[in-house]
Amino acid sequence: PRSIYLTRHGESHYNQLGRIGGDTDLSYRGRQYANALAKFITEQKIANLRVWTSCMKRTMQTASGIEAPQERWKALNEIDAGICEGLMYEEIQEQYPEEFAARDQNKYSYRYLSLPRRSRRWGGAHGVEATGDVLVVGHQAVLRCVLAYFLDKTGVELPYLKVPLHTIIKLTPQAYGCKVEFFKIPI
Ligand code: F6P
Repeated sequence: PRSIYLTRHGESHYNQLGRIGGDTDLSYRGRQYANALAKFITEQKIANLRVWTSCMKRTMQTASGIEAPQERWKALNEIDAGICEGLMYEEIQEQYPEEFAARDQNKYSYRYLSLPRRSRRWGGAHGVEATGDVLVVGHQAVLRCVLAYFLDKTGVELPYLKVPLHTIIKLTPQAYGCKVEFFKIPI
């Protein structure tokens, strides 16, 4: 059956430094993940696979070695962290204590409210459910929304769903619900 493969980009320079947001290049480890991901995908021998990335450098670099038709989607770009872009969580807590507290108290409405609509519109309009096998190379927050959509998670659970780096999440829709498999890719 048709599957949807989800992965975050490989580790970026900001990930390495513990900073959120930005549009940095992959780190050395991130580039190693890009190679390992291309190898994994080749080994799966997926017929007619399509690859969708965001328009950010770290996802395009992650997908660069994969031999399959690729499309870029702005709708897959990572959540905008506003005044917190480029900061570490400790710096946000120090510099914007009220924002930090509000974010923690109701993370869904504070941070994520606009995203599910964006990813649903994207999924619906571009037929993530209607096309053949697709690999989505995205970002933590955006992939939480895609996962929540397919796994029927609530807004309370959504902002805390685990989407680790260097891991492929394979979703295969079944008659009811979705089968979920995690592949941690060693680098
Ligand atoms: O740190 C990576 C990142 O994708 C940031 O760019 C983004 O702001 C953040 O994770 C989203 O996660 P959370 O909502 O848990 O801060």
